[in-house]
Amino acid sequence: MPELPGAERRGPAAYDDAAAMRAAVDRASTLVLVSGHRTKRRLEEHANAVEAAKAACVNRVLYVSLVGASPTATYLNARDQWMTEQYLAAAGIRHTVLRAGFYASTPAALADENFLVSGPGGGTGRVALVTHADIANVVTAVALDDDPRSKHDAAILEWAFRGELCH
Ligand SMILES: NC(=O)c1ccc[n+]([C@@H]2O[C@H](COP(=O)([O-])OP(=O)(O)OC[C@H]3O[C@@H](n4cnc5c(N)ncnc54)[C@H](OP(=O)(O)O)[C@@H]3O)[C@@H](O)[C@H]2O)c1
Repeated sequence: MPELPGAERRGPAAYDDAAAMRAAVDRASTLVLVSGHRTKRRLEEHANAVEAAKAACVNRVLYVSLVGASPTATYLNARDQWMTEQYLAAAGIRHTVLRAGFYASTPAALADENFLVSGPGGGTGRVALVTHADIANVVTAVALDDDPRSKHDAAILEWAFRGELCH
């Protein structure tokens, strides 16, 4: 964690450790919840983090989800994300869902020395990507919106840049 002026380090706290999570978010106004690793208890872990925020009187939760989150998504990660979104919506806390597209760094890491990414997508394909910096900018903009009746409350924000992947 970087040293930032005016910032206070807390934790580490695992999402499934209620006491540690509560201590980590104590007196915080906003919890930015990045979805955790894909474990068999992922939803439970996310729910525990949300409950810790409620118990610590955190004002709102910003949840970093995934574009295409849906109960019927073919991509299983997107189903986990949708279930967490549902939990959050029913939890009775101010919240915003931030559905980022796929990380631009993922195909970049897969590219060969000719910047070619090979995959089972057919001859050509489209992909919607975002950079981590863009995700950080969006999270920051929403976190800094302190309007008590913010347009971001209960909103689902989806964003990605559209690019072409082709052979
Ligand atoms: N949109 C996309 O293209 C895309 C791509 C890859 C992943 N994702 C999803 O986005 C999320 C973040 O991915 P990432 O690549 O940024 O992962 P990452 O680099 O591993 O970062 C996740 C962060 O959350 C923490 N974390 C994970 N599980 C936790 C838990 N149970 N309790 C407390 N902290 C926990 C990790 O802590 P530690 O470092 O201590 O483990 C780490 O700081 C994941 O849910 C992943 O499935 C999305």
